[in-house]
Order: sequence, then structure tokens, then C-alpha cells
Amino acid sequence: MNMASAFILVLLASLPFVSAEATEYVFKLTCQDVTGVIKQDTTLPCSVESQYNDVTIKAVSLKKKGEKDSIFLYQNKKIEVNSRDISWADQKWPETVDATLVISNIEISDEGKYEYTILTDRGYTKAEFTVKVIAQYKTPIITSRPKTDVEDGKVVDLYCNASGGYPKGSIKWFDQYNTDWTKSAELQATVTEDKLVNLSSKLHIPNFDSSLAPYKCIVFNSKNVQEGEEQFEIHETGKLELSEKTKNVAAAAVVVIGSVAVGILLALLLFKRRRSQQARRPSTRPMLSDHHRWASDVEEVLNLSPEEIKKELSLNQPV
Ligand SMILES: *[C@@H]1O[C@H](CO)[C@@H](O)[C@H](O)[C@H]1NC(C)=O
Ligand SMILES: *[C@@H]1O[C@H](CO)[C@@H](O)[C@H](O)[C@H]1NC(C)=O
Repeated sequence: MNMASAFILVLLASLPFVSAEATEYVFKLTCQDVTGVIKQDTTLPCSVESQYNDVTIKAVSLKKKGEKDSIFLYQNKKIEVNSRDISWADQKWPETVDATLVISNIEISDEGKYEYTILTDRGYTKAEFTVKVIAQYKTPIITSRPKTDVEDGKVVDLYCNASGGYPKGSIKWFDQYNTDWTKSAELQATVTEDKLVNLSSKLHIPNFDSSLAPYKCIVFNSKNVQEGEEQFEIHETGKLELSEKTKNVAAAAVVVIGSVAVGILLALLLFKRRRSQQARRPSTRPMLSDHHRWASDVEEVLNLSPEEIKKELSLNQPV
């Protein structure tokens, strides 16, 4: 027998002694509907009214309406089921009238109708409430198709994507004179794995007119309240390509400098090895301090021709 059915049995056992009307009168639980913000701890405000001040709480159950198992079950003076990280808002419970619960890190899947039942030594009381969850859309991103050759008179599609919101919202388009272009746009909503909504609006412009730019898209939530806004700036083809090329040249320079540095290091190592081999023979060179030796090594390495480096490499290969 699981906890939930045990709870129901206790409930049924107590029923013959208390009529439903009398129960409501003696002991009453009231809860409020709640809208939580995704990923936040959400309070489920509930309170108890009692004619007696010596009521003993025997069991508490919270379940989603229509589901069999409790997601939270207090019984035998301890929390026996807690599948959704729920806690009492008031640490002194069940000695207080505040029956408020807190659900941690709320998710879209926590939405729904709930049944909260409290069983006392004088009967039981039940309350229902609804939980809704909202999530704000991230700042939208505008992209164009074609990506770069956005010119007057050409066909251009603008995309405005806003991700991670809930419930489903909408996107509107305006030009710089605040003319609403939304009629020419097509909205697409995709549901993500965690039940959030990705919005993508495509504005089709058959005859692009840069004098109307910048175009902007505005994201509205399900209550038609503005959440985010983004502008589309025209990238002049030449400039964009130039800056892309400059970036590539810079990146290539880093690679070249990098390989030169590796080459110098490698050659230095080889010199060190050769030097230590030479050290076993009588040397014609004057003794140098470490610092001076390093400096003269660098000097020699930098003066080596590619052929000399090759020679060094083959000389120092293990036999
Ligand atoms: C929703 O948008 C996010 C951010 O752009 C993306 O990482 C994710 O793959 C999208 N999910 C779906 C189902 O489109
Ligand atoms: C915008 O969303 C559309 C439709 O989901 C997708 O095809 C496109 O790649 C997205 N663009 C960006 C920049 O994420």
C-alpha cells in the first residue's frame, strides 16, 4: 500500500464521525491562485481558519487534480512524500494557521489545478487552486536573408527570433516612421523541450527601401505587454566584407607569430642539448652566465638559415 492510499484510508476512517458541513464550519482551508515566474521559488498562499485552537493536524496532502499520487504528503509527524521540492513557508507549521507552501524552481510542467487536503483530529478540509507559470522572452535577434547584399529594390526577408518565453506571445514589425508592417509577416512558434516557446517572425519585403530603415521588431507576451525590441541595421556590403577580411588577416598573423615562437623554442631546446653534449668535450667558448648564454642562444637561433635548422634537427635525432 502506498502513502497516498494510506492517506485516503485515514481520511475515510475519520469521515463517519464528522459530517461534511460540520467539517467546513469547524476547520477551513483557503488557497489563492498563483502565477509563478519560471525557475523561481513560488509561494502557494493558503491559510486555515478554525473554531478551535487545539486542532491537531494529522496529515496534509498536495496533489495535482486528477492525479492519483500526492506530490507532497505529511503524515505521522513527518514529510513522507515530496516529489517536487515543496516546503512550508512557515517553519512552525503545523502549529500555525499559515498553511502556505513554497514550490522551488518552478517549471512550466508545474502548471495546473491542485488539491490541497488537511486532515485533523476534528475532520478534514480541502482547497483547490490553480498555478500558472510565465517566462519572459529573451531579447530578440534580427537576421536578414540575404545576409549581406541588402540593397534598395531587392527582395529581403527579415527574421525576428525571440526564444525561451511562455505562454505564446507575438511579434510586431515597424519601420522608422512607426508604420506597422506586421500584416506582411508570418509568425511561427516552436515549443522547446522544457515547454517554453520560441517565436520567429518573418517579414517579407518585396522591394527593400532603406529610407524606411531601421526596421524594428517588438516582442509582446501573451498579455500583449511589450517585452523586447530590436532594430535591423543595414550592413553595407563592402564594409562588412572588409571587416571580415581584416579579422582573417589578424587571425593569420596570430598563427604565423605562434608558429615562429614554437620554432624558436624548438631550436632553443636543440641548442641546449647540443651545448650539453659539447660541454662533455673541452669547449673553446668562454664560460657565460645563464642569462648571457640564453641571449647568445637566441642570437644564434635567429641567425640560422632554414638549412642550418634542418641540419640541427637531423643531428639531434635519437639514434
Ligand atoms: C529555441 O531557441 C534557442 C535559442 O535560440 C535554441 O537554442 C533552441 O534550439 C530552440 N529550440 C527549438 C525547439 O527551436
Ligand atoms: C530563427 O528561427 C527560424 C525558425 O525557427 C530559424 O529557421 C532561424 O534559423 C532562426 N534564426 C536565428 C538567427 O536563430
